[in-house]
Amino acid sequence: MTISAETANGERFALARAALSQVPHPVAIISAAADGDRSCATGTAMYVSLAPAQVVVALFPGSHTAKLIERSGEFSVSVLTRAQQPVAAAAGRSAPSGQDKFAAFGIPVLEPPAGAAAPAVADSLAVLWCRVVQRIPTGDHVLHVGEVVAHRADATKVDALLRFRRRYLRVGDWTSDESPEGYPV
Ligand SMILES: Cc1cc2nc3c(=O)[nH]c(=O)nc-3n(C[C@H](O)[C@H](O)[C@H](O)COP(=O)(O)O)c2cc1C
Repeated sequence: MTISAETANGERFALARAALSQVPHPVAIISAAADGDRSCATGTAMYVSLAPAQVVVALFPGSHTAKLIERSGEFSVSVLTRAQQPVAAAAGRSAPSGQDKFAAFGIPVLEPPAGAAAPAVADSLAVLWCRVVQRIPTGDHVLHVGEVVAHRADATKVDALLRFRRRYLRVGDWTSDESPEGYPV
């Protein structure tokens, strides 16, 4: 029996499709730059420490963006809005070899602030610029733990883009007052 690449991948990722897709994740663009080269990849991020403020991103080690993070020790996380769904679709593909993904797919660039190197995506809900403090290989990904060194947010935007059940979904309405439990985030 011949097993097509698609069938083999389907079986390999069956548990991810069935179980991991049930966890809603914010859709983010992870960006990095090194030695005049830059790229970005659709992914997600979660916070892993409050003080110091740290987030983690998980990337396939073969991704161009992951290699740039390895070289520069920095990355940015651009948290997307519903209106930026086309950016998520674009950055989820590899750019033609040797091409700048931002230029190739028309992804609008937000230049880094002083002291940071990674570009980010303009018009995002929020951007965190991070310095890598830990690199942890796990399973088929590498975790890059980043300490937040700069950030910006657009408080007028609430429609964060989520990934859930292999679809995109947008965040809707506030359902409480700000931090009623006192938790810092
Ligand atoms: C919704 C979505 C979420 C993704 N999440 C991740 C992720 O967390 N880690 C990862 O390595 N790739 C993730 N990808 C795939 C990468 O974005 C994709 O492999 C990309 O082409 C990598 O680009 P690069 O090689 O230029 O870095 C995701 C793609 C989509 C569409």
